[in-house]
Amino acid sequence: MSNKYKIALIKGDGIGPEIVDEAVKVLDAIASVENISFAYNEYLMGGCAVDVFDNPLPADTISGALNSDAVLFGAIGGPQYDSLPSEKRPEMGLLKLRKALNVFANIRPAVIFDELTEASTLKEEVVKGVNLLVVRELTGGIYFGEPREKKEDVAYNTMIYTRDEIKRIAKVAFEQAMQRDKKITSVDKANVLEVSKLWREVVIEMSKDYPEVRLEHMYVDNAAMQLIRNPKQFDVILTGNIFGDILSDAASMIIGSIGLLPSSSIGGKVGLYEPIHGSAPDIAGQGIANPIATIMSASMMLRDLGELKAADRIDNAIKDVLKEGYRTHDLANFDAKEVVSTEEMGSLIAEYATK
Ligand code: IPM
Ligand code: MG
Repeated sequence: MSNKYKIALIKGDGIGPEIVDEAVKVLDAIASVENISFAYNEYLMGGCAVDVFDNPLPADTISGALNSDAVLFGAIGGPQYDSLPSEKRPEMGLLKLRKALNVFANIRPAVIFDELTEASTLKEEVVKGVNLLVVRELTGGIYFGEPREKKEDVAYNTMIYTRDEIKRIAKVAFEQAMQRDKKITSVDKANVLEVSKLWREVVIEMSKDYPEVRLEHMYVDNAAMQLIRNPKQFDVILTGNIFGDILSDAASMIIGSIGLLPSSSIGGKVGLYEPIHGSAPDIAGQGIANPIATIMSASMMLRDLGELKAADRIDNAIKDVLKEGYRTHDLANFDAKEVVSTEEMGSLIAEYATK
C-alpha cells in the first residue's frame, strides 16, 4: 500500500504555472521511486480567478484547498489588476486563503548554498554558512486589522495582535528553535508601537517554558541592518506579519536570488506551500524563471506530510544540480557551467532526485 496524498494545486498568475509545473514534475518523479502517490486537483486564485469569476478566491478554491492534504501554490498578481478595488485584487485572494486555512505560521528558511555564495550581493565571508529561519505571523497584524479604510484624503490600517495570536506564533518559533541552534531573535518596534510592547511581553512569558532557548529582542530597523551586516548571528527570527514580509525579502538577497526561498504556512488542518517570491509578470512565459523555490516548497510539504526520505531526495537533488553547475537565468553569472530553462531545471532535479 502506498501513501496517497491529495494535493490542491493553485498555479496562479505570471510565472506561477511554469514553476508549479516543475514542482509537479519532481513530485511525480519521486512518486515513481518512493512508496507515494499524488492526486492533484487544480484551482484558480488571484488574477486568473478574477478574469473568470470576477473573484480572486472562488468558493470552490477554498473548499478544494480545505479538502486536500496540502496546497501547493505558485504566485499571483500582475499589473493589469493594479487598479482594481482592494477586495478584487489578486493579493486579497491569497490573504483570504491563508485566513480560510488558518495557517497563522509562515516558515521561511534562508539557507545559503555553498555553490552560490558568489551570487549573494554580500561578501562571501559574510554569507557563507548562513542558515536562518523567519517565523512570520501570517493571519493577523496590519494585513488584517480592522478598521481599515481609504477615503479621498485620508486612509488608515490597524496593526493589532491579541495575546493569543502572539502566543501561538511564539510557540511555533520556540519549537522550531529547539530543533535548531536554540536562539530566537524576536523582531518588533517596541520603542514606538503598543502592539509591539504586548508582543514582547508575551514572547518573554513564553520563553519561560523554553529555558534552553536564548531569546533576544531587536527593533525591526536594527534587524534590517543586522541582516545585511552579519546574517550569521541569526537562527530563528520571530516576527509579525508585515515585518516578516519585509525581512524575508531582504533575507533572500543574502542567499543570492529570491528564486531560492521556499515557505510553508502551517497551523491549520491543511498546510500551504509556496515560494516567497511574486508572479514576476515581466519574465512570465519566457522559460527563464527559477523553479527551485517552488520545488523546495514541495519538499517542505513532503516533510510536513511525514515523507522525510522523499523530501531529502529533493533537497539533495537541488544541491547536486547546483554543484554540477546548472543555473537558471537569475543565477547565470555565478559559476554557471550551463544556463538552463525553467523546464530543464525541473527535469534535472527530477532526474537527480530519482538516482
Ligand atoms: C509574500 C507576498 C504576499 C504577502 C503578497 C503577495 C500579498 O509578498 O508572501 O511575501 O505580502 O504576504
Ligand atoms: Mg512578500
